[in-house]
Amino acid sequence: RTSVAAAAVAATLTLPLAGPTTAAPGSPGEPRYSAGAASVGDLYFPDQGNGGFDVQHYDIKFTYDPATKRLNATTTISAVATQDLDQFNLDFRGPAITKLAVNGKPMDYQQGDEEVVVTPRPKLKTGQTFTTVVAYAGVPPVITDPDGSIEGWVPTDDGAFVAGEPQGSAAWFPGNNHPTDKATFTLTATVPEGKTAVGNGQLISQQTADGWTTFTWDSTEPMATYLATVTIGDFAVTRSTTPSGIPVYVAVDLRLVDRSAAAVARIPDIVDYFSSVFGPYPFASTGAIIDRAPNVGYALETQTKPIFSNAPSIGTMAHELAHQWYGDSVSLERWSDIWLNEGFATYASWLYTEHTGGATAQQTFNSNSNYGRAASSSFWQISMIDPGPVDMFSNVPYNRGAMTLHALRGKIGDDAFFKLIKEWATMHRYGNANTADFVQLAEKVSGMDLTHFFDVWVYQAGKPTSW
Ligand code: ARG
Ligand code: ZN
Repeated sequence: RTSVAAAAVAATLTLPLAGPTTAAPGSPGEPRYSAGAASVGDLYFPDQGNGGFDVQHYDIKFTYDPATKRLNATTTISAVATQDLDQFNLDFRGPAITKLAVNGKPMDYQQGDEEVVVTPRPKLKTGQTFTTVVAYAGVPPVITDPDGSIEGWVPTDDGAFVAGEPQGSAAWFPGNNHPTDKATFTLTATVPEGKTAVGNGQLISQQTADGWTTFTWDSTEPMATYLATVTIGDFAVTRSTTPSGIPVYVAVDLRLVDRSAAAVARIPDIVDYFSSVFGPYPFASTGAIIDRAPNVGYALETQTKPIFSNAPSIGTMAHELAHQWYGDSVSLERWSDIWLNEGFATYASWLYTEHTGGATAQQTFNSNSNYGRAASSSFWQISMIDPGPVDMFSNVPYNRGAMTLHALRGKIGDDAFFKLIKEWATMHRYGNANTADFVQLAEKVSGMDLTHFFDVWVYQAGKPTSW
């Protein structure tokens, strides 16, 4: 007899209820095959992520013709099976697949709206490295988010603006589309001669033949899928290095060069200042992509080169570069903790403003767009620990998040606070973390009980009045 509870547990673990019981999944001995989960269980985006494998590397090669908006791509996914697999899913919302092979052999698959179901044969054993090659061609989709903003593959008048937070990477490549599965990337883009294709990481080759130019970009540190970009357009490119020696690659829409100049000029200073406050810059290069995309209207911290849909202010440039530490290197475990990304990046921009002689962080905290808001304002009523998919990019995770950090600084003192945010970047470098991890570290570094502090600032709605 099996109790209802035991059956439920068995069902979640996808263990068969009957059959050989000598080997647990994952242990040596008889393999016990099952299907990888179709989701990692993130409640904000239940279709995101998959179980049963861990991606190591994405090799994405494509040709894009802005005139037809067609993408012709082949993505090779190198992954390790984390259970014995007779089936697994890939997140994918892109054009029709023309071929799919596992370990060099064409495989059966079913392409749905958001998922591709693959049945590898021979089946895959725990710990086995396998490669999945997916070829596809067509017009990749623009994806609309719960808050109404657009992302994914967004055609522009001179190319495409490519940004994927939180869901959009699946518009242009199949994979495990959740921040908990980071991987290295090689991006190879072929575009009409004269266009520039700008990806994450370092440019390792650029070659023109027969009217087409191929750019190859290499991301040598792990990256969450939502941070991937290969943005295409008519760009002015400048290369330099920061005073501390980090290579800088900046691509600016030809129409935005003048209006972007002030923010672009600050990149080396911002990166080196943040390195002194947050610890060493986590990636092998830095830069920016500034690409006119009027229907997008936001910026994104695409890894190594944040992307801006219009000429950025210095504050926005600082915000997106701060995400390289907080968001890109230290990533979310689940989307509901988005304040850990947006609050840190916003607070970093306050620090940069103060560093460059503008308002102090205390003055920014006090302002009418921050703590000065009336207690009756709806701003104070949205939950910061769980804003929901519609409000995850509202000003709550940004401004209340930044205020939380400033209030914490006041509570534990400058020495402990700056030690804490450096330690946070160091201990979770290239990893994932959640709010409870942050609370725990803050208590450890400060030696204080911060239960009440985090209750009023993070876990409860309402305007904090004493902490
Ligand atoms: N993380 C971006 C920032 O730096 C915002 C992305 C907004 N994305 C969206 N789909 N609304 O603030
Ligand atoms: Zn941000």
